[in-house]
Amino acid sequence: MLENQPGWRLAALLCFALGACVSPESERYSEVTGKSAPQPGRDHHSFANPDALRVTHLLLDLDVDFEQSVLSGYAELEIEHVDRDARKLILDTRALNIERVESRGAGGAWREAGFELGEEVEHLGRPLVIEVPADAATVRVHYRTSPSASGLQWLTPAQTAGGRHPFLFTQSQAIHARSWIPLQDTPQVRMTYVATVRTPPELLAVMSASNQIGTPRDGEYRFEMPQPIPSYLIALGVGDLAFEPMGERTGVYAERPVVEAAAAEFADTGRMLEITEKLFGPYRWGRYDLLILPPSFPFGGMENPRLSFITPTVIAGDKSLVALIAHELAHSWSGNLVTNATWRDLWLNEGFTVYVESRIMEAVYGMHRKRMEDALGYQSLLEDFEELEDRDEVLAVDLRGRDPDDVFTDVPYEKGRLLLVYLEQHFGRETFDRFLRGYFDDFAFRSITTGQFLAYLDEHLLEPHAGIVSMAKVKKWVFEPGLPRDAVLPHSDAFVNIDAVRSRWLGGKIAAQDIDTSQWTVHEWLHFLNNLPDELDHELLVALDEAFALTDSSNAEIASSWLEIAIRNGYEQVYDRLEEFLVGIGRRKLIEPLYKTLVKTDEGRETALRIYAKAKSGYHPLMITTAEKILYPTKP
Ligand code: BES
Ligand code: ZN
Repeated sequence: MLENQPGWRLAALLCFALGACVSPESERYSEVTGKSAPQPGRDHHSFANPDALRVTHLLLDLDVDFEQSVLSGYAELEIEHVDRDARKLILDTRALNIERVESRGAGGAWREAGFELGEEVEHLGRPLVIEVPADAATVRVHYRTSPSASGLQWLTPAQTAGGRHPFLFTQSQAIHARSWIPLQDTPQVRMTYVATVRTPPELLAVMSASNQIGTPRDGEYRFEMPQPIPSYLIALGVGDLAFEPMGERTGVYAERPVVEAAAAEFADTGRMLEITEKLFGPYRWGRYDLLILPPSFPFGGMENPRLSFITPTVIAGDKSLVALIAHELAHSWSGNLVTNATWRDLWLNEGFTVYVESRIMEAVYGMHRKRMEDALGYQSLLEDFEELEDRDEVLAVDLRGRDPDDVFTDVPYEKGRLLLVYLEQHFGRETFDRFLRGYFDDFAFRSITTGQFLAYLDEHLLEPHAGIVSMAKVKKWVFEPGLPRDAVLPHSDAFVNIDAVRSRWLGGKIAAQDIDTSQWTVHEWLHFLNNLPDELDHELLVALDEAFALTDSSNAEIASSWLEIAIRNGYEQVYDRLEEFLVGIGRRKLIEPLYKTLVKTDEGRETALRIYAKAKSGYHPLMITTAEKILYPTKP
């Protein structure tokens, strides 16, 4: 029925996204879709009731127990009584063991508080409902995490670079903070926090907060995050970490065997920071450091404030993959300062960040490189479009009833960026930069919806420069699938040359060893590989590998791309390397395509299962979920 009524559906979506609708449309939406209309700003991924009782500050006191793979201690939450009559504080939890809850009035004594853990809800965990007296200012929850907490990865010494000490890291985005802290796990609630973390004395703990450089390594560490942040940015890492400064405000934490190479690879971080400040206003978080994680980290990077978490797979030796640092740094404005109010609005975080990232890359490394990186991103978007349903090609995606981890695509990233490029082109860079800078200032330390952004855009850019881009046009970008016809697409001359050489080679006009790759950067290689035909003759693969030793490439992006091609074409000579790669690396973007390609044939599926059995113990819970969806597709 819905498919027969696209006009209605779209009208309802547009109208609600702008928060400007009244009940007749809402009734119509329900009639057509059988669902209640989306309420912009309502977070469907949290049980919390911040409109009644709102958490403003968190005090964490945690022991890190590597033997049991458990965090235990308490979380103290300061609450604001938004609704004076509200007596129940609802928190999000997932697989937490709640031992005891207390509350106290301002300056008063602790009193036991009644609490109840509600039923488990798929994707969301369990609500923790706490009875709070009218005068309660603070609630204290004593709890323990579960060894399988979705937001924690516990690594044995053997799974680290140093090999002698265990490692722990958190990954809270999107809704995993609740698996290690009971809190209001919605990006609309911002809180300051302080923490005390106790670890084995030989280890160092770091957090997305003030990290005291040179703090004595004594197993007890204190942190303070004085700026209010959403829960998904609370982060902790514990390991045998060393610190290497890169500049006045920037440095790297990593295991000792990695720290020097990391500091050299990311030496341009300080410059990136200065450039972003010039473009979009002051950096408001104090220091900007990086924490290099073990290779099982499931993402490229995570923008935890003051301390981005980074995969070691971007330490390529030639700075070829440092756009990732530009990306995570850019989040200090787009995301950490101005935050999506719900996961439906993720594009406000990621699309703006990819745009700012690209501006940083242009300023630090020049137009030539920026164009190649933009083009690679665009191609990746087109590949996603081939597989996605229409409903997931819109920027403001309807996530009700779904796990945000399952809807992780290039759409909020690359389509989001293309919308901003479109606006930049039409209004001119100067005007657009001024607008963006004002946007970051006006919404600093706030969380906003797509509708709020559109209203702001209208008032501060479209209206004052009327007749250039209409609101109807912008809504097309935000609420319709695909890309508008007049999108401004990236173009790289360098890639045109690569296309020409590839064609000559495929057409038999030149041999592999005669391709002059001496000036090729990693980006050119990626473009060359990513655009090979699906099917390639065995001899061509062998010739390419012999000429350029692709199977042995130490660049993780090139290796991933090449291994995928090899699997697709049954080039089994790579299988040892494939196994080493899949066991050694847990970054989802690099290994998910390899499992997906393997399972396309029966033989490949067997290989995938065999390797996965070895690799699984080293994977993050998120990667395990992803891999098992591919390997056992019928399993719920
Ligand atoms: N914030 C994201 C990672 C994320 C997004 C985690 C949504 C969970 C839910 C981070 O900034 C990111 O986008 N990382 C990308 C790298 C980037 C260069 C596109 C990644 O990890 O691949
Ligand atoms: Zn990002």
